[in-house]
Amino acid sequence: MGEVFINRHPLVQHKITRLRDRTTGTNEFRKLVEEIGMLMGYEALSDLATENIDVETPLEITPSPVIAGRKLAIVPILRAGLGMVSGILALVPTAKVGHIGLYRDPETHDPVEYYCKLPTPIEERTIVVTDPMLATGGSACGALNLIKQHGGRKIKFMCIIAAPEGLERLKKEHPDVQIYVGHLDRQLNESAYILPGLGDAGDRIFGTK
Ligand code: URA
Repeated sequence: MGEVFINRHPLVQHKITRLRDRTTGTNEFRKLVEEIGMLMGYEALSDLATENIDVETPLEITPSPVIAGRKLAIVPILRAGLGMVSGILALVPTAKVGHIGLYRDPETHDPVEYYCKLPTPIEERTIVVTDPMLATGGSACGALNLIKQHGGRKIKFMCIIAAPEGLERLKKEHPDVQIYVGHLDRQLNESAYILPGLGDAGDRIFGTK
């Protein structure tokens, strides 16, 4: 089964409470999603490989670590996943950014790809997939299937809020993917919104409705 990391950091939990508040406006909401992306990114990237290079300090030459090999790929699931990208880029400005767009087939309810552009060579990169809301797990599993079809191997999935239903599905269908969750909520409602949740993350990030 996939490794799951449920965040317990007080700063992340405080910011999630602000996100949940229905009176939090677009400007603040967007900033909070970015900040949570950064805080969760810091945790999720703690196992990035390093290698030593020689650096000349004002006093002597010393071996000192830098991030090794091909860098990171951040892959937001459109559109709400975009909101977390800038926070991770603040940590790793050299990361490449791919995009995956999926819509839900109205009859089968299966995710259907309408856009997929990934940095190459994807197989050599650590890939962080972002989507603030892991609800049914349909989009997340669809995106991970696509990335694997393109050769992606070392994948981390990051969400701010997860429903138990989506988390179980993701763990089962993608046991090789590390899953980072800001908060595990109670359940989905009949319209597949997360309870207590925060509403529609995309609408709240982009100010649409
Ligand atoms: N997507 C959202 O934006 N919110 C939910 O509650 C579920 C899916």
